[in-house]
Amino acid sequence: MFSIERQDLGPNFTFGTATAAYQIEGGQTDGRGTCIWDTFAATPGNVKHRHDGAVACDHYNRWPEDLDLIRDGGFDAYRFSLAWPRLIPEGIGAVNQKGLDFYDRLIDGMLERGLKPFATLYHWDLPSALMDRGGWMNRDIAGWFAEYAALVGNRFGDRLAATATINEPWCVAFLSHFLGIHAPGYRDLRAAARAMHHVLLAHGTAIDALRGEGAKNLGIVLNLEKTEPASGKPEDLDAENIGDALFNRWYLGGVFKGVYPVELTTALAPWLPEGFEKDMETVSRPLDWLGINYYTRGIYAGDRDAGLFGGRRIAGDLETSDLGWEIHPKGLEDLLVRVSREYTRVPLYVTETGMSETDDARRVKFYDDHLRAVANAQAQGADVRGFFAWSLLDNYEWAEGYTSRFGIVHVDYATQVRTPKGSYRAFQGMLHNTR
Ligand code: FCB
Repeated sequence: MFSIERQDLGPNFTFGTATAAYQIEGGQTDGRGTCIWDTFAATPGNVKHRHDGAVACDHYNRWPEDLDLIRDGGFDAYRFSLAWPRLIPEGIGAVNQKGLDFYDRLIDGMLERGLKPFATLYHWDLPSALMDRGGWMNRDIAGWFAEYAALVGNRFGDRLAATATINEPWCVAFLSHFLGIHAPGYRDLRAAARAMHHVLLAHGTAIDALRGEGAKNLGIVLNLEKTEPASGKPEDLDAENIGDALFNRWYLGGVFKGVYPVELTTALAPWLPEGFEKDMETVSRPLDWLGINYYTRGIYAGDRDAGLFGGRRIAGDLETSDLGWEIHPKGLEDLLVRVSREYTRVPLYVTETGMSETDDARRVKFYDDHLRAVANAQAQGADVRGFFAWSLLDNYEWAEGYTSRFGIVHVDYATQVRTPKGSYRAFQGMLHNTR
C-alpha cells in the first residue's frame, strides 16, 4: 500500500506506466527491419548472457492482455514507443504496411480501454541501414528522423494524447558513443560530440515535421540526474559542474534556451560539428510539455588523469537498487523545481522512474517516496502533471539483458505468464475507480 493518495497530486494528474518497443515487443517478423540493438546484442561482451530482444515479452502478440493490465490497474495513460525499423525497415524510404497495422491496433486498443496514448518516436532502436551511414554521427539523420516523424504524425497523430521525439538524448549520444555501454558501443569523443548535437537537431526537425502533419502536444523526454560534488574542494566543485553540464545542462539549455553550456562548447570545440550554432533555433523549437526520467543522483570528484574534463563519477553511500543505483527521491523533487524555475514553464511529466529489484516491498516504498517528492515539487510551484512507472513489465533491460527486473508486473520469460506484483496492487489500490 502507498501512504500517498491520488488527490495529493491534484485533481487532473495523469498516472501511467511506461515501456519501450525493443524492450517488450519481440515480433521480429512481418517485415520489421533490423536495428542496432539486434547486432550489438549479438556481439559477445556487450550484453549479459548475450540476451537480445528477439522475443522479449512477446508484446507484439500479447498486447491486448498488456493493455488490459494497464486499464485494470486504474491507470489513465500508457507511454509506449514506436519501432522505427518496424515502420520503415531501412530507416528511410519504403513503409511497412504490417508495421502501420500493428500500431493502429495498439493505439486503438488503448483508446477502447480509455487509456491516453503517450507515444515516443525513438527509444533507441535505430534501423541498421542508417547505422551503416553513420547513424547519429551523420548530420543527415535530422532529415531521416523528420521523414519518420512525418509518417507517424500523419498516420497516428490525431489519436495520440502526447508525442515525444527522443527518449533520453544523453543515452543516445553519450552512453552509446562515449561510454560504449549501449549500442552502437562507441568510445570516441568525436563520435559523442557529433551525436550530442545531431540528436537534438533531429529532435527539432521532428517537431517541425510532426507540427506540419497537425500532431498536437509535442515534447521530448530527458533523463536528468541530481548532481552533487564529492566535497567542497574546488576540484570536486569543478567536476560536479562539468558532470551537470554533460548530463543535464547540455540538453535543457539546448532545448529550452537554444544555448549549450560554454564549458562544453569550449572543451568539445575540436569535435563538434562545424557551424552547430546555426542550428540552435531548430534545436530549441517551442514545446508543449517536457518529460523527465529520473532514477538516481550522480556524485562527482576531481580527477585530472582518468576523468573526462577533470572529473569523474564516484559511488555514494545511500541505499541502492539491485543495479547499485542510489535511491534519492529528494533529487527528483529538486530537479523538478530547478527545471521549472530555470528552464521552462511548460507542463512537466515524470515519464519514467522505478527500481530494479526482486524484493517488491522495496519498490512499493520507492514509488511512494517518489510520488511524495512530486507532490513536494508541486508545492514549490513546479507544474507537474503526470507520473509514469517504469515499467509495466519486467523486460529487456539493455546491457543487463533479462537479469534486471523493473516491472510492476512479473514476467516469466519461459511461459510469458504475467503476474502483478505488490507494487502493481499498490497503484491499483490508490487509483481504483477514480479514473
Ligand atoms: C531508462 C530507459 C528505459 C529503461 C530504464 C531503466 O534509461 O529509458 O528504457 O531501461 O532506464
